[in-house]
Amino acid sequence: MGVWMNAWGIIVAAGRGERLLSASGGVSKQFLAWRGAPLYWASALLLARCARLKGLVFVFPEALLAEERARAAALSAKASLGLPCRFAAGGKRRQDSVCNGLAALPDEATHVLIHDAARPFASPALCNRVLDELEKGAAGVIPGIPVTDTIKVVRDGEVAHTPDRETLKAVQTPQGFLLVTLRASHARALNEGWDVTDDAMLLERCGVPVRLVEGEPGNAKITRAEDLAMLEEKSAPSVVRVGYGYDVHAYTDPEEARARPLRLGGVAVPEGGFAVRAHSDGDVLLHALMDALLGCVGGGDIGQLFPDADPALDNVSSCVLLDEVMTLAREKGFSLEHVDVTVIAQRPKVGPHREEIRKNLARLLGLGVESVNVKATTEEGLGFTGSCQGIKSVAVATGRQTRG
Ligand code: CTP
Ligand code: MG
Repeated sequence: MGVWMNAWGIIVAAGRGERLLSASGGVSKQFLAWRGAPLYWASALLLARCARLKGLVFVFPEALLAEERARAAALSAKASLGLPCRFAAGGKRRQDSVCNGLAALPDEATHVLIHDAARPFASPALCNRVLDELEKGAAGVIPGIPVTDTIKVVRDGEVAHTPDRETLKAVQTPQGFLLVTLRASHARALNEGWDVTDDAMLLERCGVPVRLVEGEPGNAKITRAEDLAMLEEKSAPSVVRVGYGYDVHAYTDPEEARARPLRLGGVAVPEGGFAVRAHSDGDVLLHALMDALLGCVGGGDIGQLFPDADPALDNVSSCVLLDEVMTLAREKGFSLEHVDVTVIAQRPKVGPHREEIRKNLARLLGLGVESVNVKATTEEGLGFTGSCQGIKSVAVATGRQTRG
């Protein structure tokens, strides 16, 4: 049986970032813009991915508390942390900031993970390793990694001694604690005037064992000017996006009010005099393609974007709508690389128009023809396409989206 746990996270973001102020143009490092948000937000998102945490406390410099609190609320409205958040003003030293953060925790909290805002690269797996040890009953848990350099203890410019490297660990955050123990250690530190650089040191001084878990070499703390390069490398990563679209239109009497002569991929397909029932021009291929593009950028579907009831869209060209979707996708940092579309119809025959459709799509999408594939098939006389009641199309779009 594990220990019953109500664990909260504390993000300490109240430092000055003295050591890189000149390189950052006077901005304290936790507020540097990274992936479309201040750096501390990345550290908060990382803790928020840890399902066992019940809430987060942000500790900001006192003078910026109201401003940053509002900014965190706005960021949360965009991409919710899914956790209740509290806010506290920081203090002069890191340990004072932690102390204020502890005071802001709710009564029901039993454990806490304290994380530096300046360590945005830690993984949720690391948080879970720390929480696992707390659940097993540890009062203090810290991540550490082996040191690669030989470390010397130096006094007055002279080497005093060389500790055995095997016994040394470079420690990181998040550090996890049983709250009663950490609070008691902080109270004692206050009474006795201790000055420490991390919370584990307080427990050590109080004689409480602190357990070590494997840290992560990638979990660096942005500290000096040269560390800014780590943010640059990771500031514009692009991710592959794949979107899928599907659309159907019913064939109808060409004389009917909402009948539109058949168009596929912006190309007229007059053979057989087929017409589809639609509000726009009813280009089933372009509709499937637009949904695939919206799928790539989390943009919902064309029904949401272009409602059927909108009189402005009556008989509108789907090429115009596609242009709007492309603009929207680009604004979201999406760059299209490839599309693959299939038209499913018993009649008319699409094959004779395939190359023209392909070229037209390449033009509309700004792609080379080699990046556009158009296929057509029947359903062997089966279903609504087989009985020529309608036509359908599916599309897959692939591209890359840059974050931030
Ligand atoms: N921190 C804090 N309150 C302080 C000092 C530090 O909340 N009074 C936070 C920092 O914002 C940072 C983390 O503690 O996220 C780790 O501290 P450190 O790397 O030393 O940051 P700074 O103190 O801001 O940097 P510097 O020491 O270069 O001034
Ligand atoms: Mg500091």
